[in-house]
Amino acid sequence: MDVRSAPLLQLVTAGQPKKPTFTRPPAQLRGALARRTPLDPKTDKALIRKGDALLAAAEDEARETAAAARKANRSVAYLRRRPLDHAEACYERLRAYQNPRGLVSRWLGSGRRAALFVGPSRTGKSTAAYAICNEANDDGVWVEAWTAFDLWRTLRSEGDDGPCWSRVTSCDLLLLDDLGRERVTDAWREHLTEIMEVRWARRRRLIVTVNTPPDPEGAYRRLVDPVDQGGYGYGDPVVERILAGGGLVIFDGPPFRDLVADW
Ligand SMILES: Nc1ncnc2c1ncn2[C@@H]1O[C@H](COP(=O)(O)OP(=O)(O)OP(=O)(O)O)[C@@H](O)[C@H]1O
Ligand SMILES: [Mg+2]
Repeated sequence: MDVRSAPLLQLVTAGQPKKPTFTRPPAQLRGALARRTPLDPKTDKALIRKGDALLAAAEDEARETAAAARKANRSVAYLRRRPLDHAEACYERLRAYQNPRGLVSRWLGSGRRAALFVGPSRTGKSTAAYAICNEANDDGVWVEAWTAFDLWRTLRSEGDDGPCWSRVTSCDLLLLDDLGRERVTDAWREHLTEIMEVRWARRRRLIVTVNTPPDPEGAYRRLVDPVDQGGYGYGDPVVERILAGGGLVIFDGPPFRDLVADW
């Protein structure tokens, strides 16, 4: 926009509708704009320059304000969606076998693009994943944390051009929690493949948790094999894309179980 065509109101409030904080245009310029008298490029050069600078500053400020608001909204959305159980998850609370050789606590700072947390049920995989997500969110990283089931259900109704699709393909860090609890259909396999591909192309990070046997080969087979052979049925293309540029963390400690035998 050029200052010569900017109405006064817009010039003063652009980007800050509630509380304009930037400098008001000089009285002479305000007068000219209010009267809508055209400024003369020959005689009003300085005025036009000043007005253009003010407009540029207003536009910069509007962009920064919008970016800050987007960041804050994403963080709030993460905190709202996060299960209560994982609100306190942090590296310090993880047991040694949930953070073998610091693989979990070092992952954010490492070059590994993806992390696949595998192992038997209740060994603390989701908690370890949320320890990373909580840390990343505190650092201002855009985190989206979804259970595979919720994502499957949401994409089934929204398809691949809704807000959920754009969030999970664009965010800096995606947690896909508890893979294997949703129904693995052809449409879901295609969605997963596409999400992984887009994120790979954008170099975005990914954490996946899934219940499997506690060894690399057993975990891989469980993910890939068809359902009638005891697997989840994701097939090679999906699993290879999840693993691309990533690493495996095996959770094989004792399960967290509180078996109550009396009350
Ligand atoms: N370090 C820890 N200290 C105390 N409780 C923990 C710890 N890690 C996990 N838990 C608790 O143990 C339970 C199981 O943990 P979590 O859900 O992370 O395991 P999981 O391997 O993801 O299990 P699932 O098979 O259900 O997906 C949860 O109630 C969790 O709060
Ligand atoms: Mg879990």
